[in-house]
Parts: sequence; C-alpha cells; structure tokens
Amino acid sequence: MSLEQEIAKRRTFGIISHPDAGKTTLTEKLLLFGGAIQKAGAVKSSKIKDHARSDWMEIEKQRGISVATSVMGFNYEDVKINLLDTPGHQDFAEDTYRTLTAVDSVIMVIDCVKGVEIQTEKLMEVCRMRSTPVICFINKLDREGRDPFELLDEIEEKLSIKVRPLSWPISMGKTFKGVYSLYEKSLHLFTPSKTTVEEGIEVKDITDSLVDDYVGESNARQLRADIELIEGVYPDFDVNEYLNGRVAPVFFGSAVNNFGVKELLDAFIRLAPQPVPRETSVRIVEPEEKKFSGFIFKIHANMDPKHRNRIAFLRICSGKFERGNNYFHVRQDKSLRFSNATAFMAQDRETVEEAWPGDIVGIFDTGNLKIGDTLTEGEKLMYTGIPSFSPEIFKEVVNMDAMKTKQLEKGLLQLMEEGVAQLFTYELGKRKVVGVVGALQFEVIQFRLKNEYNATVQFVPQNIYKACWISSKNPQKLAEFIESKQRHIARDKDDKLVFMAESRGWLQMVQDNFPDIEFHFTSEF
Ligand code: G4P
Repeated sequence: MSLEQEIAKRRTFGIISHPDAGKTTLTEKLLLFGGAIQKAGAVKSSKIKDHARSDWMEIEKQRGISVATSVMGFNYEDVKINLLDTPGHQDFAEDTYRTLTAVDSVIMVIDCVKGVEIQTEKLMEVCRMRSTPVICFINKLDREGRDPFELLDEIEEKLSIKVRPLSWPISMGKTFKGVYSLYEKSLHLFTPSKTTVEEGIEVKDITDSLVDDYVGESNARQLRADIELIEGVYPDFDVNEYLNGRVAPVFFGSAVNNFGVKELLDAFIRLAPQPVPRETSVRIVEPEEKKFSGFIFKIHANMDPKHRNRIAFLRICSGKFERGNNYFHVRQDKSLRFSNATAFMAQDRETVEEAWPGDIVGIFDTGNLKIGDTLTEGEKLMYTGIPSFSPEIFKEVVNMDAMKTKQLEKGLLQLMEEGVAQLFTYELGKRKVVGVVGALQFEVIQFRLKNEYNATVQFVPQNIYKACWISSKNPQKLAEFIESKQRHIARDKDDKLVFMAESRGWLQMVQDNFPDIEFHFTSEF
C-alpha cells in the first residue's frame, strides 16, 4: 500500500467527557465493534473509580495497567482506528490536554441527565485552541434526561461551538423508543440490553406511515414536529465546517445498551479527518511527505525504582517510521537508534516494524526523550502546540536532606519531563515551586522522589493564584516590569518568564497598571 493509502485509511482520535458520562463504556463498545476485544468488561480496569480518589497508589497502579489501553488500535471496515485514551481522573487533566495534541479529532460524550459538566468545558477549550473537529455523543437516553433541544443549546452556549443534530431521540427514559437518523433517513428502534445491532429500518422520509407503526402515533407526531424545528433552526450539515472545528454533529444513544454506537462509528469513519497537516516551528508538515517526522506527547514512567526506563509515546506525523532506523532528535541535536518500538493494538503491545502517519508508537527510553520532543530524518523542525497551562495549586519544594541535593535535582527534572507537574524557579533566591492541576500529584511526587531518587522533600503551600507567562513588544517595559515585580518573577522549565500572581484581583490590578505587558495563561502564545 502506498503512503497516501496508508494515511487515507487512518483515523486517530480521543474520547473526552466528564467522569461518569460513559467514556469507558463507549470505548468498550467501539472495541467490540472493531473485534479488538471479545467480551464486555475488558476495558474497565483502566477506569479510576471514585473510591480510589484519595488513594493515589491505587490510581498509579491503575495508570500502570492503563498503559496497555493508552492507545487502542483496531480495524473497522477498511479503516485503521487509533483511539487514544485520556485519564478520567481530573487530577491528571494535564495528561489529557497533551493527549489531545496527538489526535486529529475528538468524540465528546455528554450525559443527557447532567448536560455539559465542568471537565467537558475545560477539555473543549483545548479542542477549540487547535480547531479540533468534535463529534458529540449524548449518552444515557435510557434515563429520564433533559430536553434534547435544551441540551443542544447548552452545548452551544457553554462549549462555544455550533451543533447540528444528525440523529434525534424518540422520547427518553422508560418510554425511550429509539432514534431517527437524519443522516441516513432511517429509524433505529431501541431494545434495552441489546448486545447485537440490527440494521436500521429505512423510511422514505419522516412522513412515512412506517414511523407511526413502529413508534406510535403520538411519538411520531412529536418526532415530525422536532425534525421540522431542527430543519428550520439548524443550517444543513456542512462537513467542512465540522472539519474546521466550527460545527459539532450530534448523535444520541445509550452506550451501555449498545444503542446508537454503531451509527456513531459508521458516521465517524466517514466524517472524521484522516491524519492532518501539522504546524512546526518552521513550516507546516504534510503527512504525505516521504520523510518521517513525529513528536512525543506522553511519557509513562516505570514505577519500579530498579528499572528507570519509561515509555515515550510518539505520534507519527509524516512519512514512514521503521524500527531499527536512526532518527534525528532535534532538541538534543543528535541521531538516536530506535530498535525497541512497540505498536499498540487494543490491549496488547507488539513490536512494530513500521508505522504510518496517525499511528502511535511506544518507545522504551532511558532518559533521552521528554514531552514535546520532535524526531525527524534530519530536518531541524519542532512540532508546536503542546502547551503548558497554568497550574492551579502551588507549593514550594523544601529539601529535607542536604546530602541528597543532586538526587533531588535529578528527580525533579525527570518528573517534570514526564509532565507530572510544572516547576517554577524564582529569580530571587532560586526557590523552587511546583504547580499542579490536582492535589494528588504532590503525594505522587513526594513518594516517587523518595522511592526512585532517595530524596526527601516537604511541600509548603504558597499563596499563588495563577502562573502567567509574560511577554512584551517593548523590551524596555518588560525589563521595568521585572524590576518592579522581582519577588514574583520565576522561570518555567524552558526558561520562559513567568509572573506568579497572588490573587485574581491583584492580577487584574497589575494588568491594568502595566498595559504594555502581555499576560498569558498557557506557555504557548
Ligand atoms: P466514564 O468512563 O466516562 O467515567 O464512565 P463509564 O463508562 O464508566 O460510565 C459511568 C456509569 O454510567 C457506569 O455505571 C456505566 O455503566 C453507566 N452508563 C454508561 N452508559 C450508560 C447508558 O447509556 N445508560 C445508563 N443508564 N448508564 C450508562 P456504574 O454504575 O458507575 O458502573 P458499572 O457498575 O455499571 O460498571
């Protein structure tokens, strides 16, 4: 098969949702359709359950298990699908943000009872930054949920994206009858706990009396009124608008009942983009380019202190990756040999001989790679778009064992490279402050520093509201600002200047007082 054909048959995507909306269940059903797993329940082990919320060891263990399910490759019809898993636990949200940089599109799951929840809003923000195409799946229609029109309005409002329903529910909860596919003009009837999926019933159009026969007169009347409203209110579905991240097609279903999932998957393989061109520091790289290039978006450490190797996840962006070849590590300006690469197929890992744009390859690494690194066949370019977001909780790292300073430095550096947390070093006094999204990370860091690097630390809470990356078109003004706010200026891991704001009000005041300074909430601007 040619490079172009390999690219055309690939779809690399992620599923995002607020915890409990049904991401794991949907993942599992998709894998069942792809024949990648044989029975339900196989994916559950990767799920971090509520009861483990305060037990991070348990979470890490589960994260360990979930390496296998981090990337699930499977074939459906003639399409090679790469599904990238994202951690459900919000304390690991940064992991999810980064994973979203490696996908070409996203399926967003929304619980029809709860509507748009906070985690979905945050994840959608990341999608919007990159104009990632989003398909929306409204789940749990077997429950008494909110009015579908109301849900669509909420998505548009809270997620700032236009929607276009491509299927429509007929009633809900106990009286849920099924969905009408506006996309295929067919009726799909719901039977609870169905494990196999029958083809939809084709109808001429919505006026077909078959509709009344199958769902009853009153439901049919309501459906016709709803469809009329949809056709009147929403413009026709335009696939380019979807591909540009401006419109999200919406499907309804019930993942646990395997209902609406096949329709979703069928539409997905037809609509979702094949691997797309990507921006680098110097130019846009097309997947069809003959020369290989890719970037590292995730690093998973081995919890065993005796084996400090880790798995780096490489997204292939152009050309063909071949095991055993030497590739150019742009940041380190040197050539590396990759003899130990694995592909991810559902829950198994297997040695990979070659991989194509859209594929994810796991590379065993002993410390050469970090998140954001680019590999090429020699060209000096760096993939962009792997931003750090301002953390939400900040604590100063205090070294409790002066004899182990070196180990601490090394440990901190490596954990930061894995993306466990962000480190800010103050200009004055070189104080080190760690920032995280979820409080659990502090326990993880403390434990791992002790366990893997034999360094003992304590954390002292800091009164910091946000870390803002700063810049200015006027170097003189920037220097003046740094001078006047010296005590609050730090550097991030890449030596970028950061202003550590103590409160929202104070930040606002500082912004007003220094109009020449730009304050950014992500490291890429
Ligand atoms: P998540 O990965 O997004 O966190 O959600 P997950 O799939 O684990 O689903 C959360 C809960 O919602 C699960 O119940 C799951 O069975 C249920 N669920 C998923 N899809 C549907 C649906 O279409 N209808 C209904 N009624 N429920 C659905 P649980 O009790 O937390 O777990 P379990 O004991 O069933 O495994």
